[in-house]
Amino acid sequence: MTFPDTFAWGVATASAQIEGATNLDGRGLSIWDVFSHTPGKVWLNQTTDIACDHYRRYKDDVAIMKAMGVQAYRFSTSWSRVLPEGAGKINAPGLDFYDRLTDELLANGITPWLTLYHWDLPYELHCRGGWLNPDMPHWFAAYTDVITKRLSDRIHHWMTINEPQCFVGLGYERGEHAPGYKLPFRELLRIGHHVLLSHGRAVQTIRANAPQPAQIGLAPHAINKIPATESPQDIAAARDAMFAFKDKTCWSNCWWLDPIFLGRYPDDMLASCAEEMPRIGANDMEIISQPVDFFGANIYAGSYVKAGPDGKPIEMPWRTNLSLSAFKFVMTPETLYWSPRFYYERYGKPICITESGMSNVDSVCLDGNVRDPERIDYNARCLRHLWRAGQEGTPLIGYFHWSLLDNFEWSEGYKERLGLVYVDFDTQQRIWKDSARWYQDVIATNGARALASDADVFRTT
Ligand code: NOJ
Repeated sequence: MTFPDTFAWGVATASAQIEGATNLDGRGLSIWDVFSHTPGKVWLNQTTDIACDHYRRYKDDVAIMKAMGVQAYRFSTSWSRVLPEGAGKINAPGLDFYDRLTDELLANGITPWLTLYHWDLPYELHCRGGWLNPDMPHWFAAYTDVITKRLSDRIHHWMTINEPQCFVGLGYERGEHAPGYKLPFRELLRIGHHVLLSHGRAVQTIRANAPQPAQIGLAPHAINKIPATESPQDIAAARDAMFAFKDKTCWSNCWWLDPIFLGRYPDDMLASCAEEMPRIGANDMEIISQPVDFFGANIYAGSYVKAGPDGKPIEMPWRTNLSLSAFKFVMTPETLYWSPRFYYERYGKPICITESGMSNVDSVCLDGNVRDPERIDYNARCLRHLWRAGQEGTPLIGYFHWSLLDNFEWSEGYKERLGLVYVDFDTQQRIWKDSARWYQDVIATNGARALASDADVFRTT
């Protein structure tokens, strides 16, 4: 038993979380630099300043991926490294960095998958209104133009935006992430519309510039619903809950995905937000729903749903026995089966797991090893569920483990460790965790190692 031959085994990172070098070679500030320097916003007031020092150590990190057998690397470009003011003047050394990184990846046989926006908005654009400013889609298209003109001769896989729900929900609704706002829902809807338009304009720009067919998608945060049982009623209820617009919050799938994949805002959303919706221009929905090639999904925790007597979904309380990651995310690996299946049924695009992983209490043992059996176990379970989805007809493109390295986990600072590779943030030493060696084996066997008998999952090689 293996995954399809074309399946891509990858790892993922993001610029603000690993690069550091925030004031080097002409880079401008991002909102996360400013936020992390604001006392009280990030755990222990930790900052983006150094992170994994990847900007300087990228060759070593590519060498680690090569040794692990990684086939595809999902990374993001820092907008303010390339355009320090967000728009206008290009910072040549910043753009050169991504050029060198791309070449290094290709020289090592690793396919680059580039995310254009993973939350590090240039501070200068933020000061001009940021995502509230109707010019954002144009600024985003201009930034995409710069990146694709330089890299699309060698990069063929693109993701426009990472987890709109989270950066809008945590950054502008709850105030927990940069820029730390708590805006009224009316303004969140406006931001959302600008995000969707930015996505669409970026898709147009990539297509216009790429000299060969590009594979384009985005990497939304999956809001996962799991049927309490596999009865048709519970499955239907979970599916309904997964695509309903329930509350006036950012935490839905349909707000962000129906416009892109179906060309319209969901009816239940329009009905409940009629008063607050922004003006939608004549061509907006056409721009937003530019055809894309795959459905990316960042899949973490899910919640259980059963059908009530009338068939309507009922959210279940957490099971007493549910496991929690160090982050206190519930560990529900079956989301890797249900969400790809539900997304494919609704949107009809092949699925790529653009993120999956867990934070763990990782530390260096007396003998120098980092033992993380919980992560191996969790990843094996996730891959088994994903495999089942594939077997039952959901087309699967690839799986990107979040993350390659322990890194800056946003408002949690360096507290949460999600890497396959442990980072000692004092010395920048990288240490392979047991899960990295295990993943190496998973890749080498095209997944067979994860699908093997339960005892074999923990076999030492
Ligand atoms: C999703 C985000 O895209 C990523 O930046 C973050 O580190 C992981 N979730 C883990 O929380």
